[in-house]
Amino acid sequence: MAKNTRIIAAQTLVRVLDGGQSLTSVLENTLPALENPQDKAFVQAVCYGVCRYYHRLQFILTQLLDKPIKDAEIYALALVGLYQLAFMRVKTHAAVSETVDATPRKKSWAKNLINALLRRYLREQDQLETLANLNPVALHSHPKWLIFRVENDWGENAAQIFLAANEPPPMVLRVNALQTSRENYLTQLTNLKIDAEVVETCPSAIRLVKPVAVFSLPNFEMGMVSVQDTAAQYAAGLLELREGQRILDLCAAPAGKTAHILESQPDLECVAVDIDATRMLRVEMNLQRLNLSAQLIVGDATQPESWWDRKCFDRILVDAPCSALGVIRRHPDIKLLRRTDDLIALPALQAAILKSAWSMLKEGGLLVYATCSILKAENEDQIATFLAENPNAHEMPFDSNPAKHGWQILTGENGCDGFYYARLRKVNLAA
Ligand SMILES: C[S@@+](CC[C@H](N)C(=O)[O-])C[C@H]1O[C@@H](n2cnc3c(N)ncnc32)[C@H](O)[C@@H]1O
Repeated sequence: MAKNTRIIAAQTLVRVLDGGQSLTSVLENTLPALENPQDKAFVQAVCYGVCRYYHRLQFILTQLLDKPIKDAEIYALALVGLYQLAFMRVKTHAAVSETVDATPRKKSWAKNLINALLRRYLREQDQLETLANLNPVALHSHPKWLIFRVENDWGENAAQIFLAANEPPPMVLRVNALQTSRENYLTQLTNLKIDAEVVETCPSAIRLVKPVAVFSLPNFEMGMVSVQDTAAQYAAGLLELREGQRILDLCAAPAGKTAHILESQPDLECVAVDIDATRMLRVEMNLQRLNLSAQLIVGDATQPESWWDRKCFDRILVDAPCSALGVIRRHPDIKLLRRTDDLIALPALQAAILKSAWSMLKEGGLLVYATCSILKAENEDQIATFLAENPNAHEMPFDSNPAKHGWQILTGENGCDGFYYARLRKVNLAA
């Protein structure tokens, strides 16, 4: 008999909540074992949903219990049950009975507990949801430390950021300009009845009305298209790429931006560096699918002496390791896995990578600094410090406000992931 999907979802969540593993990697192992596509879709939707609304569900669960549930699997199953009742369009009685039935046989003591708390939630739903709305952690469904950081940086815009971070993201495609035009690809999608529209602000981007499996996208396997958020697709355009340039893509894996650089201007010498050898294997696979090539180096961006050939670059993209708080809507487990301490080391690492990148840039060359973060410490404060310490760095502004460094896209702004860009030109001070 097929295993109940609710317990599969609960066991997946335990590996995130207790095991500290990323939801993407756990699902990569879990989903292939499920034969039925509807089961796969259900497990995926429940796991993403529970991570997205974990802080709210946890608050409600606490109200429903006299004492905490110590068993991790039963605790996760209770969250799975509550998520279905609070957020999914499922028949409530079926959701309760299926979740109760999912209780493992050797933990039959928990059946009554799950049954009682889910039924009590249904009876007291309005009061419990009202109570949750009065508690900031439950209201925004973000951890307290993160609410503090975002409110500190963004004041009254913070509530909108939390709201956008809890929305499922759109699926955005990047059309490979070497293979077809955006208009042509849109026609191919229309012919397959996949509803989509062009993103006016970004020449390579098409937004799907509803996400689909990548392999149902026309000519995906031959590299005509890739999946990449609009915000990430701005990087290649900001680099002002020209024929014959030597480009360094520092922190390149899994090569979303490397590929876009090469699709935008194939006549380049492109060097892609990343410290993570496993992620570098994905770079190889991704470039292979797109029929693109670059020089790939596994190396530490802060230690270029171990891999750099001393030839300076015309353009450098620093897509820095960051808190990734701008992509919580795509990876809601970030809210569960990231700790406030993680954020302490990142600005220093980003500064070290920037410094090292600057030493490899030609005079007159352009460096684009990017993060998928919305925190000022990783973004505009980082660039302000860099400019103060490097008089030969001239910022190319994005707007007329000189007090603001770079371009901060807040989560959900124009449908984009949260992202940050700054452009720095290396000038000759003696000239
Ligand atoms: C934001 S991701 C890059 C995404 C990539 N540019 C893309 O568009 O697909 C940051 C990358 O920085 C890499 N990284 C972290 N520390 C590094 C270091 N000291 N040197 C080189 N790469 C590093 C990580 O392995 C990770 O792949």
